[in-house]
Amino acid sequence: MADAREFQDRLLSLGLARVSEAAALASAQLIGRGDEKAADQAAVNAMRDQLNLLDIAGVVVIGEGERDEAPMLFIGEEVGTGKGPAVDIALDPLEGTTLTAKDMPNALTVIAMAPRGTLLHAPDVYMEKLAIGPGFKTGVVTLAMSPSERVSALAAAKGCSTEDITVCVLERPRHEEMIAEIRSTGASIRLITDGDVAGVMHCAEPDLTGIDIYMGSGGAPEGVLAAAALKCMGGQFFGKLLFRNEDEKGRARKAGIQNFDRVYTRDDLVRGDVIFAATGVTDGSLLAGIKREVGYLTTETILMRSKTGSVRRMTYRSPMR
Ligand code: FBP
Repeated sequence: MADAREFQDRLLSLGLARVSEAAALASAQLIGRGDEKAADQAAVNAMRDQLNLLDIAGVVVIGEGERDEAPMLFIGEEVGTGKGPAVDIALDPLEGTTLTAKDMPNALTVIAMAPRGTLLHAPDVYMEKLAIGPGFKTGVVTLAMSPSERVSALAAAKGCSTEDITVCVLERPRHEEMIAEIRSTGASIRLITDGDVAGVMHCAEPDLTGIDIYMGSGGAPEGVLAAAALKCMGGQFFGKLLFRNEDEKGRARKAGIQNFDRVYTRDDLVRGDVIFAATGVTDGSLLAGIKREVGYLTTETILMRSKTGSVRRMTYRSPMR
């Protein structure tokens, strides 16, 4: 019998895939229906129900929001049967609610699980993010470099020209200056309208996705999820919290953060082993979206463990109920 204090990541990983699949299946009927809220709610309900079947003593550390804002999967909610190992859970039942509502690429359901106390309790503020895939010297690119310096440094490390580098960036007015600077290097940019967890994950498989580097600001909770994915897939991630006002600093203090200028590495955000599952909702370059046939729905899930570096892609055909 496994020791309840051990992480039991191997045993738990299939259960985690089921949680991720269930959330995706629940949002299937809401793809392209223009209703972000309904799609998100369906995914939240299904993810929570499935999570509560797992033999874990889980606590949501990255979730749907503070307890007073989110009735389900809020930060601090205890999940699981309470019988197994003590774990932290980071989740986003639907990463890309607008992508789902508009049937645009790369909407995912995402969940990560790690031993209790090892995931950063990131407040709901922005984070400046920088990510590259595996195989590079640590610090070949840094947050301290300008966007163009990062492109040049990565091109030099890859032994290619800056024109051969593709950068993934969230399309936002706040990124206009950065986009112009990246373009001045000759690099190409893949602009995404949402979903920077997928954006960062794309860096880990550049041959498949065509993306070499991710940069720009997005949600800090999504930063922890992205770091968990890269810890399994390989790659470097750097994040720095960004605060727009005192209220946001208050949120960070509440989450136990004192140093507001800290640059977090991947392993600061995810301090131990982690397991990670994501299921495609809409088609993307990493994962296929949900396929419908008469009577069936089929999903594709990526399931990964940092301890072994194993990356599985699993398809699941589920009879429609
Ligand atoms: P949803 O919450 O609608 O799923 O959007 C997610 C997301 O695009 C993240 O991937 C990203 O980190 C964040 O929103 C960006 O925030 P903003 O839209 O405020 O720039």
